[in-house]
Amino acid sequence: MSPRRPLVSGNWKMHLTHLEAIQVVQKLSYALERGPQGAVEVSVHPAFTALRSVQTVLDADEISVALGAQDVHWEDSGPWTGEVSPVMLAKLGVRYVIVGHSERRQHLGETDGWVNRKLRATLRAGMTPICCVGETAEQRDAGRTEEVVVGQLHAALAGVEPAEAARLVVAYEPIWAIGTGRTATPADAQAVAAALRVAVGERWGPDAAGGVRIQYGGSVNERNAADLVGQPDVDGALVGGASLDPVAFAAVVAAARPR
Ligand code: PGA
Repeated sequence: MSPRRPLVSGNWKMHLTHLEAIQVVQKLSYALERGPQGAVEVSVHPAFTALRSVQTVLDADEISVALGAQDVHWEDSGPWTGEVSPVMLAKLGVRYVIVGHSERRQHLGETDGWVNRKLRATLRAGMTPICCVGETAEQRDAGRTEEVVVGQLHAALAGVEPAEAARLVVAYEPIWAIGTGRTATPADAQAVAAALRVAVGERWGPDAAGGVRIQYGGSVNERNAADLVGQPDVDGALVGGASLDPVAFAAVVAAARPR
């Protein structure tokens, strides 16, 4: 059995007002099976406007779900209208921060350089980045998947220490699989996750390679999760659409239990 504890993360994207988010997280706490839940770690990533409300519910009901954010700025404070800093998130009890999601890279101008700054700022604030990498359909067809994702990984992790790399989460999310209902095959997800782990080992050493958790993301649901997360180098899932349905999301969590 892998020494790494799987992490299943719900990326709610730009869905759910704070009132709706409260309902979803309450339903999720019922849907997650009671009893020993420690085998799988779970995080939810509401919009910024719902973070405080969700945090209050998680704390009050002692729900063992970690609070996550979808993005962060790299400065602790300053004249950055509209941005949210790592210090602000850490103060709210945020534990995981998604950085470099492909929707931000593709539609909002996020560069590798920004992703690197955000990732290091997240670590500096004591939180854990979930660093997203993934290839387009054209890149996959051209046989460039590994080159692309390893390149993104190196750019995102530039300047990171081995001990920091060991506690990172990397999400392998093929862009053509996000929100499309198409997933990588379990064998493809395993091959890319293994290539990412080898790349971490080559640059940051064996402890980092053994410690870094690699999620698969892209149309994960309660039906396909077990096969994808069951791969030896896949340590959980980053779930978009299905995470908005607490019952489906809880089923993905159950499917991620190590067997
Ligand atoms: P999806 O999104 O599960 O809806 O494909 C995954 C993601 O974008 O993180």
